[in-house]
Amino acid sequence: MTVHLVGAGPGDPELITVKAVRLLGRADVVVYDRLVSAEILAMAAPWAELINVGKDPNGERTTQDQINTILIDRGHQHDTVVRLKGGDPFVFGRGGEEAIALETAGISVAVIPGITSSIAGPALAGIPVTHRNVSSAFTVVTAHEDPHKADGLNWQALAQLNTTLVVLMGARRAAQIRERLLASGMGRDTPVAIVYSASTPDQTVDRLPLHRLGQYPVPNPAVIVIGQVAAAPVITGLPGTDLTQTAHLGAEGDPQTRQSPRDRRPAQLTKGFGRETSPQPGLPIVQGTTS
Ligand SMILES: C[S@@+](CC[C@H](N)C(=O)[O-])C[C@H]1O[C@@H](n2cnc3c(N)ncnc32)[C@H](O)[C@@H]1O
Repeated sequence: MTVHLVGAGPGDPELITVKAVRLLGRADVVVYDRLVSAEILAMAAPWAELINVGKDPNGERTTQDQINTILIDRGHQHDTVVRLKGGDPFVFGRGGEEAIALETAGISVAVIPGITSSIAGPALAGIPVTHRNVSSAFTVVTAHEDPHKADGLNWQALAQLNTTLVVLMGARRAAQIRERLLASGMGRDTPVAIVYSASTPDQTVDRLPLHRLGQYPVPNPAVIVIGQVAAAPVITGLPGTDLTQTAHLGAEGDPQTRQSPRDRRPAQLTKGFGRETSPQPGLPIVQGTTS
């Protein structure tokens, strides 16, 4: 009679926790989301009931009420139920709502955190979300909220933080995000990286200046990273240079005019902002960067 809210990580089946794998192997029921891979589902016991409640952005949706009803129903019937979500269950995963609904129905809840795409996506593109003397904080926001909503996110404040902004669910609203940030004073050449399908064999990374964000379709799922850390990867084997070279660009630098790490790349890498395809999971070796 416990429902475990379990994070499946960003997609690579090796990026799920040992604890999650163990639970999956003994769960009676697994209620899973769209971004959970087939390889991870294959870790479930052969007798487990697998229920897909994925919310495909272009297709049929299981409502949150329907999901809660399924969880409560299975939670009453079985000893071990796994609610499996992409990334971390409490990062834009509605895990909190499900926990409250379950406890209200008298069912105990446990949480197994997962590796969130908001950090793993940038990391697998060679982008540290914080980097000494470049960005001392990061903010993770959802673009799913309508940016024009009166009581929505304060994009003016986000534009002025001068740290790393990570946007989830931004594929359809990329142009609105660009307009909001530019109108709020963020520099038009602020580096942006779009990490698509991070940690999967389809992973790609696009790098572009902010003023070009949303000028062509952003694929789904993607993590959009905005800020100086997005300019170039810090990992050997990926195109770009070492962010440690920008260490002097401290907080006192003018974000509108200061030189970006991109400007410090070798000449052949500064010609344009193009699409790069990242090496696949397992290949990158992180250099000894300081935090
Ligand atoms: C509903 S949110 C869930 C986030 C998840 N709980 C997490 O911690 O990663 C779904 C969004 O996460 C991002 N996302 C999840 N997995 C991703 C991946 N492998 N690559 C890129 N973005 C991903 C995308 O922005 C997607 O639209």
